[in-house]
Amino acid sequence: MKQRHYSIAIDGPSGAGKSTLARQLAQKLGFLYVDTGAIYRTVGLHAKRSGLALERAEQVVPLLGSLHLDIAHGEDGLQHMYLNGEDVSEAIRQHDVSAWASAVSAVPAVRAFLLELQRDFARTNSVIMDGRDIGTVVLPQADVKVFLTAEPEERARRRYLELLERGQQADYGTVLKDLLERDQRDSTRAAAPLRRAEDALLVDTTGLNLEQSLALLLDTVEGKMAV
Ligand code: DC
Repeated sequence: MKQRHYSIAIDGPSGAGKSTLARQLAQKLGFLYVDTGAIYRTVGLHAKRSGLALERAEQVVPLLGSLHLDIAHGEDGLQHMYLNGEDVSEAIRQHDVSAWASAVSAVPAVRAFLLELQRDFARTNSVIMDGRDIGTVVLPQADVKVFLTAEPEERARRRYLELLERGQQADYGTVLKDLLERDQRDSTRAAAPLRRAEDALLVDTTGLNLEQSLALLLDTVEGKMAV
């Protein structure tokens, strides 16, 4: 008998805690966690390394043919990204790669290039996939859809602390400004903009710590799956 696979889509703006919470939820449920932002970041890193200008990110399209992208999940459930054979899992977390990821993700041909790659995971596994358009475009039939968000100042504060923890230079004002710009670009672009799917459950983590956010998310998801 064919095994039933479940899918949970988690969308929302950057810094809402999607990846940390989705990873922990996947561990609890025994699902595969797919971080689609990491895939866009890898394409963004490729564009940056190719010497393109940020405002001409669409020039990455002819380079997609020579881009070899691999996604591997380790025993620990962590997702590793490989760009032409190189493990770039750390490199894609540099602050400036965020803007590149956002810029290439607005290019329709880039989104089309990555669509089947993302859908394939859900065909062969029970998944928790996070991103911007998972509930609206990638997995519109997902069993559970969540729109995870928090106030911009709080998201910026989390991002700032995360950068410091990684040993990177950071300035809160710059992080907030970059985050607001990215929110704006991700939600106003023509191709698959960030928006809450009509049937997505809203989870707002403003004022909640990680543990409280996870409890709220777990409650929301289990409530929906029990229906
Ligand atoms: O989640 P993140 O911050 O790592 O994502 C990086 C960028 O990639 C983000 O600015 C928007 C884009 N992205 C997207 O357009 N669609 C997705 N499904 C995931 C990310």
